[in-house]
Amino acid sequence: MLKKHPTFPGVKGPVVTIIMDGIGYSPKTFGNAIAQAYTPTLDRLLATCQHTFLKAHGKAVGMPSDEDMGNSEVGHNALGSGQVYNQGASLVAEAIASGTLFQGAAWREIIANAREHGSTLHFIGLFSDGNVHSHIDHLKAMIVRAKADGLQRVRVHILLDGRDVPETSALDYVGPFETFLAELRKDGFDARIASGGGRMSITMDRYEADWDMVERGWRTHVLGEARHFESATQAIETLRAEHPGIIDQNLPPFVIVQDGESIGRIFDKDSVIFFNFRGDRAIEMSRAFEEEEFAPFDRVRHPGVTYAGMLQYDGDLGIPRRYLVSPPAIRDTLGEYLAAEGITQLAISETQKYGHVTYFWNGNRSGKFNETLETYVEIPSDKVPFEQRPWMKSAEITDELIRQLKTGKHRTARVNYANGDMVGHTGNYQATIIAVETVDLALARLLPVIDALEGVALITADHGNADEMYELDKKTGEPQQSVHGIPKAKTSHTLNPVPFIYYDSRRRAVVTNPGDAGLSAVAATTVNLLGYQAPGMWDRGLLEFR
Ligand code: 3PG
Ligand code: CO
Repeated sequence: MLKKHPTFPGVKGPVVTIIMDGIGYSPKTFGNAIAQAYTPTLDRLLATCQHTFLKAHGKAVGMPSDEDMGNSEVGHNALGSGQVYNQGASLVAEAIASGTLFQGAAWREIIANAREHGSTLHFIGLFSDGNVHSHIDHLKAMIVRAKADGLQRVRVHILLDGRDVPETSALDYVGPFETFLAELRKDGFDARIASGGGRMSITMDRYEADWDMVERGWRTHVLGEARHFESATQAIETLRAEHPGIIDQNLPPFVIVQDGESIGRIFDKDSVIFFNFRGDRAIEMSRAFEEEEFAPFDRVRHPGVTYAGMLQYDGDLGIPRRYLVSPPAIRDTLGEYLAAEGITQLAISETQKYGHVTYFWNGNRSGKFNETLETYVEIPSDKVPFEQRPWMKSAEITDELIRQLKTGKHRTARVNYANGDMVGHTGNYQATIIAVETVDLALARLLPVIDALEGVALITADHGNADEMYELDKKTGEPQQSVHGIPKAKTSHTLNPVPFIYYDSRRRAVVTNPGDAGLSAVAATTVNLLGYQAPGMWDRGLLEFR
């Protein structure tokens, strides 16, 4: 249970946390869609409200190093738990470095199965060093170990990134990886890339937004049904030439063939490792492999394989059953404490970020802590490339949020506006400016309602994205020029901090930040505003009460 705050009795109205996904802060204006956007509300807030900036990347959110950008999973985990846990990226890197991954039952079963049947070990996953969903070094370490453990044949199914890494960088990964495999093949070990495609074209759907993506992935990796090429490099070069301007995440699927035959279909008795550590975009394909009865699409053929995920992607639903590394055990979350205290909660977003304000927010837990105290609202996302609809569902979310707040039922609410992030990931600068303006417009509608209810808004973000729309040169910090002298579009998150704005027309507190506060400070801030002390394991809040 929460203890009463020693001095502050709590605000009367709702405490609303507004997550402007992908809206970080950078003092630079060139290539900054937030600086370029018309944002009268945000400008006014920053001019008139108490605010600070929070760390949203690197160790402050449990990533292995401060070179690692933040992402929505680790960001919402920190916001919703008030604590910093070592995250999947860190846990897997440690498990590989210490060798514990290879001593675990899951790895041994994967290897034993392929050895016993003389079958193939397949790896499927995001092929980059983005370290948001996966890291290519983890893949390489596992292939080396599979060889040392006596396997004969490995096939790799590569999901091209261009979203957590530069938008047309696929060949920077494929080239060296082919050399790496060729080296391993010298003494007869048979390891090859077997299929692939852009991560937004196949396999990595999330929150059941578009099962067709997963079906296309299944056909590609398992059935070997996609366009044929002799190598991944040939596939990427050909598909790029045929689709001018296409970026890696959208490349169509391909299958590598030899003498007209796919070299890497997945059959009964094979072993399969899905090497992403992050769950949201790994759950659906894992279900397709694991479930006996499976409704979302016709698998045509369902091979009986020994399947493992890098992590367990959903601990409550047990997906997948077998996994190589245990996920962070996030406990004592804000949602759990509020539920125990009898405080009502509303969570709302559109499909693309719905799991972020529920599952990730609650420490990777599906379902509610308390059915009657919690209301979860999902507004269905569009199924179009988001640069074509940069407003996404912001208006609908705002309509529903205002309606819900006016019922007076919710003491706390959290909302995610996905625009800055989802449109920022397309690399389309013009559309991202509109996306940011859309969020500003939503704030303009929402804040007066919160104020009229005598509530407070905490306006923040989970990580940056729209704040840097051009790839910056690591040394100079200036935008990199492409061959045509045009700055290179950047699709990934940034290392920038995020704003934290305390919107309270009654000015009941002042913002304090010792300088190193991260996203995990927001949970304590929330309970303080409700008139409670934060539990001891949470990082300290950002407000001092007068
Ligand atoms: C994605 O999955 O879309 C990106 O890799 C990361 O985006 P998110 O962390 O903002 O969801
Ligand atoms: Co993102």
